[in-house]
Amino acid sequence: MPNVAVVGTQWGDEGKGKIVDLLTEYADLIVRFQGGNNAGHTLLVQNEKYILHLVPSGILYPEKLCLIGNGVVVDPQVLKNEISGLRERGIEVTPSRLRVSARAHMIMPYHKALDIAREEARGRVKIGTTGRGIGPCYEDKVGRRGIRLIDFIDRQGFMKRYLANLSEKEKYLRYVLGSDLPLEAEGERETLIELSRELAPYVSNVSVEIQKAVDSGRSVLFEGAQGTQLDIDHGTYPYVTSSNPVAGSACSGAGVGPRILDCVLGVVKAYTTRVGAGVFPTELQDETGTYLQEKGAEFGSTTGRKRRCGWQDMVVLREAARLNSLSGLAITKLDVLSGLDTIRICTGYENDEGLQEAMPPSLEELEKCRPIYEDLPGWSQPIGEARSFSELPMNAQDYLHRIEALSGVPIYLISVGPSREQTITERNPFDSDSTT
Ligand code: GDP
Ligand code: IMO
Ligand code: MG
Repeated sequence: MPNVAVVGTQWGDEGKGKIVDLLTEYADLIVRFQGGNNAGHTLLVQNEKYILHLVPSGILYPEKLCLIGNGVVVDPQVLKNEISGLRERGIEVTPSRLRVSARAHMIMPYHKALDIAREEARGRVKIGTTGRGIGPCYEDKVGRRGIRLIDFIDRQGFMKRYLANLSEKEKYLRYVLGSDLPLEAEGERETLIELSRELAPYVSNVSVEIQKAVDSGRSVLFEGAQGTQLDIDHGTYPYVTSSNPVAGSACSGAGVGPRILDCVLGVVKAYTTRVGAGVFPTELQDETGTYLQEKGAEFGSTTGRKRRCGWQDMVVLREAARLNSLSGLAITKLDVLSGLDTIRICTGYENDEGLQEAMPPSLEELEKCRPIYEDLPGWSQPIGEARSFSELPMNAQDYLHRIEALSGVPIYLISVGPSREQTITERNPFDSDSTT
């Protein structure tokens, strides 16, 4: 049975949650493989809205198994709250349905304090992180002083590591960052011990679980967080997150080999958005930008910040196609474009050196790039009720054909509204003829 990865192609918030929820019907296991609770994935099912930060977006289907891989950084308090929040809404979340890799690193309260203090110290050049401690946690992982879930539930071993880290962070926070933020709240240690006791039943060897499932013919859906332009290696560095949202990281972040992936679906918003700071070549700082922000309700699902909005960017999409080996696209929020007279697509960039077809690695070079636009006629009618390609207005069909032609990637799914059923399926990524 095919295994599919769903990844973001832009700067995150493309609608990955909706697409993963929709495709869960065809999968047996749903696996998060990177990022942490900087992610906010929204599902709208039977008029009920769910925003998931750590729990995979397959959780609404009672018979499916959701896994959090070793590549995810887990804030134990957030995970506990998310589990209890879902339970209060009648969703069964037990260790038989949700399991977390023993190798996943834990976000500690001092990681959040460091994230916030670093941002303050950066002043005007701050990254605009979510303040969830993501970067400092990945730093400790790479620095070989992190605390994994398996270390967290071993009480004595945990306290030794925790105290050693705390003493190091205290010096760094006070003497390097000059911050007097508290690293530890009153009663924090007791809270952490209690959390480790509560999360212990969820601990699992995710890599082995996936292999066993695949060997018995079951299908895996890998759920990416963030987006390709936020990738620590391939994005608009340093205005990026601290993990690899590209599809290749599904392997290292879940504990599987690269031959497991049959299909990579890239989620792409019909326009572009970005939260936080950093270069954004097609950003609109005019009334069209405001129109997209308001009509698309573009507010961050995690921090509530207004998302910056701009036109569709083919340089960004071509980067995503190459970096993720995209098999197909899921275009989301096409309905938001209804009512615009003209729709622009950026086909390339130009700067003093001439035409730039790929994203320049230098941020300074990228900042000098000007988008080259192609204009297409818009459409006026609402499209939220369309359930087949032919029901879309001709100009919407032409817009989609143009994206396919310019990116070189076929469109599999078209989303025309936030709810599960507001979707047009051109090709199901789980059909064996859709895989590459
Ligand atoms: P993710 O982080 O990629 O999962 O995306 P978010 O959930 O952060 O943001 C996407 C937002 O767009 C959510 O509020 C979704 O409910 C909403 N959404 C998803 N698809 C569509 C669509 O086709 N049309 C509209 N209008 N909203 C959508
Ligand atoms: P989903 O999965 C959009 C952005 C932050 C900031 C930068 C670094 O919902 O698409 P971090 O806290 O990760 O160190 O912040 O990355 N960012 C996101 N933007 N969607 C996300 O996730 C994001 N996760 C992080 O706004 O600019
Ligand atoms: Mg989001």
